[in-house]
Amino acid sequence: MKKIFLTRRIYPEAMELLEKNAKIEVWSADMPITEAQLIEKVAQVEGLISMLSNPITEKVLQSGAAHSLRVVSQMAVGYDNIAVEQATKLGIAVGNTPGVLTETTADLAWALLMAAARRVVEGHTEVHRGIWRSWGPDVLCGTDVYGATLGIIGFGRIGQAVAARAAGFHMKVLYTQRHRDLAAEERTQAQYMTLDELLRQADFVTLHAYLSAETRGMIGKEQLAHMKPGAILINTARGAMIDQAALYEALSAGHLAAAALDVTDPEPIPQNSPLLELPQVIITPHIGSASTQTRRRMSVMTAENVLAGVAREKLPYCVNPEVYAQRK
Ligand code: DGY
Repeated sequence: MKKIFLTRRIYPEAMELLEKNAKIEVWSADMPITEAQLIEKVAQVEGLISMLSNPITEKVLQSGAAHSLRVVSQMAVGYDNIAVEQATKLGIAVGNTPGVLTETTADLAWALLMAAARRVVEGHTEVHRGIWRSWGPDVLCGTDVYGATLGIIGFGRIGQAVAARAAGFHMKVLYTQRHRDLAAEERTQAQYMTLDELLRQADFVTLHAYLSAETRGMIGKEQLAHMKPGAILINTARGAMIDQAALYEALSAGHLAAAALDVTDPEPIPQNSPLLELPQVIITPHIGSASTQTRRRMSVMTAENVLAGVAREKLPYCVNPEVYAQRK
């Protein structure tokens, strides 16, 4: 029987599928597996199931390839933690879970946008701490979402799902990404523009791009300065796209009204991060895809990918299909 190592246990129906078809080992310690431990584990298996919090480095892949690792199946749509180019060179297929988490992640982006606009977390905190005394004309006033302008950075599946939600709020929707997408524009009525123009016009800016060399640090001091005074920034993509020190400056200077981040760099955000001191900052623990239904679907896709990989079949959801061209 082929062997598969999992860095975290996944949902029961997926575990059952794995256990029926392979010999399974799951990392069960409280602390996440280290690179050195992973190097050791991948040398003993044909398949690896990884999470976005596991750096699947060149060294890990080399250790696996030197033995019999054929597939890395990640339980996430993003795979910026995996050295994919190296995996391809080594003949290792890499799988992910596209599509199934689109609406769930868009829901969270929308929840964060609404919560930041209407200061929901600040209000909740004041009530729980007994600070709130009485209704007042200027108590915890936020900003309107209805009729405002939304700027979407990265107009793939999730970006477009957010645009669909914005339509219900009669928002003007702007988007930016490397290529203009006329079909998506027709579907969503969104308007394409440069990043700079979008930042200057949007009341809300939300990130939905993949993390790459191009998008890493794309929202820095200069971009934040170009955002409209009082604008709100939402990030459910990857933390490293935003310069957090510059964001702190923009928020504490009062240039931005608020930020809502489901992702930070690093994760978890250090407890001494100055961002945690700002009441207008909402931070959630990377829960974009965290609905039970979606995590179940992701688990099953992850299992299907790894089982195909260890059987030397094409992965149903593969991020490096070019790997097959070079395999004998
Ligand atoms: C992903 O799948 O990449 C998401 O960030 C997980 O929630």
